[in-house]
Amino acid sequence: MGSRLIIVSNRVAVPETPRKPQAGGMAVAVKAALKNRSGLWFGWSGKVNDETQAEPRVIQHNRITYVVIDLSTTDYQEYYNGLANRVLWPILHYRVDLQEYSRADATGYIRVNRLFADRLNEIIEDDDVIWVHDYHLMPLAKELRQRGRQNPIGFYLHIPCAPPDILLTLPHHEDIIGSLTHYDLVGFQTDNDRDNFAHYITMRGARPVRAATYSVDGRQVRVGAYPVSIETAVYARLARNSARSPFVSEVKNSLGDCRLVLGVDRLDYSKGILNRINAFDRFLETHPEWRSKVTLLQITPKSRGEIKEYSDIEGEVTRLLGRINGRFGEASWTPIRYINRSYSRTALAGIYRLADVALVTPLRDGMNLVAKEFIAAQDPENPGVLLLSQFAGAAAELDQALLINPHETEGVAAALNRALEMPLEERRARYAPMMEHLLQHNIERWAKEFLSDLADTRQRPGLLEGLRALFGTYI
Ligand code: F6P
Repeated sequence: MGSRLIIVSNRVAVPETPRKPQAGGMAVAVKAALKNRSGLWFGWSGKVNDETQAEPRVIQHNRITYVVIDLSTTDYQEYYNGLANRVLWPILHYRVDLQEYSRADATGYIRVNRLFADRLNEIIEDDDVIWVHDYHLMPLAKELRQRGRQNPIGFYLHIPCAPPDILLTLPHHEDIIGSLTHYDLVGFQTDNDRDNFAHYITMRGARPVRAATYSVDGRQVRVGAYPVSIETAVYARLARNSARSPFVSEVKNSLGDCRLVLGVDRLDYSKGILNRINAFDRFLETHPEWRSKVTLLQITPKSRGEIKEYSDIEGEVTRLLGRINGRFGEASWTPIRYINRSYSRTALAGIYRLADVALVTPLRDGMNLVAKEFIAAQDPENPGVLLLSQFAGAAAELDQALLINPHETEGVAAALNRALEMPLEERRARYAPMMEHLLQHNIERWAKEFLSDLADTRQRPGLLEGLRALFGTYI
């Protein structure tokens, strides 16, 4: 059998009938990257099960083999809700104040990584290439190496990497963040994330041996920045077609003459939803001429609801919205429409195209694919305006957006006014280079560049030939 690409991630976009609305950014990106490759995707089924947990279930769909396992209640609590989302998520998003570390959770995190390694070890063949995704599975390469696996193993972090001083607040960080040095290649969203990690490992004794490659305890690890992207051309087509759908017509009609300002985010404290709503409040206060003429549509699927910070933010957002709608609303106009559900990719593409302005204002974000999808969905003749936080990874690429600091309420309110008043010529001039960039730097290129660099870390002749056969001339 030729070499396969094995993707490993906590969340897997398992094909389901009926089809579920859009999974998170990581799963959508990985799915798109796998589209033109045959491969295997291993991870958590998304189900908690105390009886037959960890029994792999195999699903074959469109050249991809999905292998998923359930988790026990304890594993789910300690590994997923615990160390991954109560500790690593806040720390890597620079929110040290929110981390809730416990030794039990840290032990559960390592235990589930060992469970993944045991199950994977039964599947892996010697010439497979393994690509691990995200913060849930940092120690996986170390575990696989301990089981004797010599395969090329790459890791990609979809969320930000904080500077060393912040990483050091994680108790026993060397067992988790430090274990990333067991990969052949570690990829990040931006140069800044990559440099933070490189700084962390050099502080811990790693030695640079050549460009982007470090030696750690006799191993070599390469680091790189590979900004994740979207299927730009496919998404643009989808938006063009869905603009004519009955659903989009209904939304359009419901707006009457109001301009549409859009926010789409998982309900997460890192997304800056409260800052954004406060800025909209300030905007309505300082620009009374826009009252009854603009609607903010905030689409916010709930997430990780068992974690206190997430239920707290839910309450805070609801209270703030109620206050603003109560203060400025009219019988005939609701300033903010707030929706806690997700929409299909097609429906969302249509709404993006309908919107005059997108507010993408995270306090910290790895990339933020909403920003990229919004640009791809625009009508080139009459594009909307993107307001983008300087703290989203996407800001490094989408520099023609109106870049804002989400902490400055007046600044965001002023930028929103500017966006709504922006002449067509300027809107086109800003949109065109961003769209061109996204057409060039699409999801396919992301996967090819990462896999090509992963192949480069192993210059063994036979292996390189195998990788070339699998991934084409890019390698
Ligand atoms: O990488 C972070 C991420 O995977 C996002 O891509 C996605 O939106 C989110 O986390 C999903 O989180 P969860 O798997 O906890 O629902």
